[in-house]
Amino acid sequence: MDTILAGRTVVLGISGGIAAYKAAELVRLLVRAGAGVHCIMTAAAREFIGPLTLQTLTKNPVATSLFDLWDEQEIGHISLAERADLCIIAPATANCIGKITLGIADDMLATVAMATRAPMLIAPAMNVNMWNSPAVQENIRILRGRGVHIIDPESGELACGTEGTGRLADITAIFERAAALLQVQDYRGVKALVTAGPTREFLDPARFLSNPSSGKMGYCLARALQWRGADVTLVSGPVALQPPRGVRHIAVTSARDMEAAVKEHAGQARLIIKSAAVADYRPREQLRQKQKKQGGALTLELERNPDILADLGARKGDRVLVGFAAETENMLKHAQDKLRAKKLDMIIANDVSSPGAGFACDTNQVCILTPGAEPEHLPCMSKDLLAHAILDRIQRLLS
Ligand SMILES: Cc1cc2nc3c(=O)[nH]c(=O)nc-3n(C[C@H](O)[C@H](O)[C@H](O)COP(=O)(O)O)c2cc1C
Repeated sequence: MDTILAGRTVVLGISGGIAAYKAAELVRLLVRAGAGVHCIMTAAAREFIGPLTLQTLTKNPVATSLFDLWDEQEIGHISLAERADLCIIAPATANCIGKITLGIADDMLATVAMATRAPMLIAPAMNVNMWNSPAVQENIRILRGRGVHIIDPESGELACGTEGTGRLADITAIFERAAALLQVQDYRGVKALVTAGPTREFLDPARFLSNPSSGKMGYCLARALQWRGADVTLVSGPVALQPPRGVRHIAVTSARDMEAAVKEHAGQARLIIKSAAVADYRPREQLRQKQKKQGGALTLELERNPDILADLGARKGDRVLVGFAAETENMLKHAQDKLRAKKLDMIIANDVSSPGAGFACDTNQVCILTPGAEPEHLPCMSKDLLAHAILDRIQRLLS
């Protein structure tokens, strides 16, 4: 379960466009993240999707009419407006955007939108010519000026058969923007560099040495930093993950590629988190052609890769430097040694041989070490939650 959305109240307004059916998927993501979701549908929206679907997914009644007796027992529109931690309108029609801009409150959605003081996220969806019309563009400009968050529609094939900008933004992008809006922006103005994933050290074009790192921990950290307002660069070895939205993503393969990318971006960073599992060694020789099978054993000669973390520690300046130690024995001792030798401000140690911790799983159990302080053992938790727990502690070092 997500940290930020758990227990928060999200009012989701759905207006009458073809994309209304996609609201069901957004509801699912919000509910799964632990939010209490209250849907409001316009009359036009109900032509496209039935309230029963949303009511079933949210387990809350769907507000449809301003004058519904049941809702109005507790002055439904005011109560919803006040209870909301966040108000999302997705999809938002040209008509709905126009009403909100002008202050017309003739239905439940427009009335709640006017009465709420919660942050508002609007995801427009419409035909390309409607989107480009001076009326809609002017309304969007005015709403942005009032502090309303607009998630721009995407380009592509539209339901009306035309091509252009107007398709509802990706549902995951809307969800992530919603989470970011509810997040305390305690990393605003901080430039952060995060490394993640494994490296690959090729023997020949068809074979490499690597490790089981999935990159999940680093990607969770990059996403959490971005949500908390940081300007994030993520240098990543080969992984099967989508880079978090809004993060500068640099894909690398070998330890030497990673070293080059880190050197290029470290200069501007105030915070560097090195969660990548960088190979310590690479084959001394990298063959241009695939090595043919031979009888008998094959001996590989390896040479040391650059120690990126130690190099950063040696030229630390006023940067906060955080490393990871994946150990299989004597975890605390090895982590303490690494903390000191590499001049780190913090090291996150985990025993990758214990169940529910380390490589490729969705949870992790770590111990956080900082110079001069007692090691802090954290319980096993999701990597998402852990990313925020780590950032809470780094925040104290930054300030
Ligand atoms: C089949 C169909 C699809 C429509 N799709 C959209 C759309 O994607 N975006 C939009 O702004 N309006 C769309 N409209 C027009 C709106 O439904 C219309 O402007 C309506 O008054 C909007 O009401 P509401 O904003 O209260 O939901 C569509 C209309 C029809 C008949």
